[in-house]
Amino acid sequence: MARRKLLREIAAEVLGEREARRIWGRVEIIGDIAVIRRPFNYPLEPLRKLGEAVIARIKHVRSVWCTASSVSGPYRTRKYIHLAGEKRSETTYRENGCMFKVDIRRVYVSPRLGYEHARIARLVRPGEVVVNMFAGAGLFSIIMARHADPRIVYSIDINPDAYRYMEENIRLNRVEGKVIPILGDAARIAEERLKGIADRILMPLQELSYKYLPQAVIALRGGGYIHVYDFTRARPGENPVEILASRYMRRFREIGVNARLVYSRVVRTVGPRRYQVVLDFKL
Ligand SMILES: C[S@@+](CC[C@H](N)C(=O)[O-])C[C@H]1O[C@@H](n2cnc3c(N)ncnc32)[C@H](O)[C@@H]1O
Repeated sequence: MARRKLLREIAAEVLGEREARRIWGRVEIIGDIAVIRRPFNYPLEPLRKLGEAVIARIKHVRSVWCTASSVSGPYRTRKYIHLAGEKRSETTYRENGCMFKVDIRRVYVSPRLGYEHARIARLVRPGEVVVNMFAGAGLFSIIMARHADPRIVYSIDINPDAYRYMEENIRLNRVEGKVIPILGDAARIAEERLKGIADRILMPLQELSYKYLPQAVIALRGGGYIHVYDFTRARPGENPVEILASRYMRRFREIGVNARLVYSRVVRTVGPRRYQVVLDFKL
């Protein structure tokens, strides 16, 4: 990709070949904002210089930030340090033919989920009812509503900022009435308002997928699909997909339902021997 090549070139000019190898792959561009995932304790000065060079050389980038914490808290957000350009953290991000307004400091957003957003949209059959339990700014929900033909997508998030952006993104992408934003705790909403209605459930949050599995099952209309995103460690020789699949199969047995794993893959490596995995189950 031309932009990746240019980024690598800029990093090599500013930081030197050796440091550039460490840093350039950590730059992500979200709309007109570049974000550098800063290695622990990495000095800020060279990153500021890199930020200035990115602004000067990559035309549409207006603002550069680096991460100052890992993703944390119930809303799965991070702290950031401003490096260069406009001190603005809100942007419009384009992905899979849709537009998303987001504030990187207020809502979770990751271009690295782009493949999964498109993959899930391809699985949705016309007329399906879908529940997205951890919707963020609405990316999975809106992309499937634009590219597939679900009857309705209930799109839940507990973060009021994510809910506000999701509402705006529903309007921006003209999927009002198809994607229904809901603010609140996904377990409570599934149990109290969405019992027995869904053909497909999305659970894109590693911290709660396992815990909220019973409520996901409650929201299903008999059989259907549950897509689980979770993290695991795996030692050399161990298969992260197998580790998580057997953990979830045990969980389904505890709940008392029959589930079959129909698809799985490692979505990305998130640390030394730590992986994000997606598991698609058919019940
Ligand atoms: C990893 S992000 C979702 C990313 C989003 N699906 C995407 O593709 O961009 C997880 C989301 O779950 C939300 N969340 C956390 N706890 C929740 C809960 N109990 N009920 C509903 N949403 C919750 C967070 O606010 C966050 O927006």
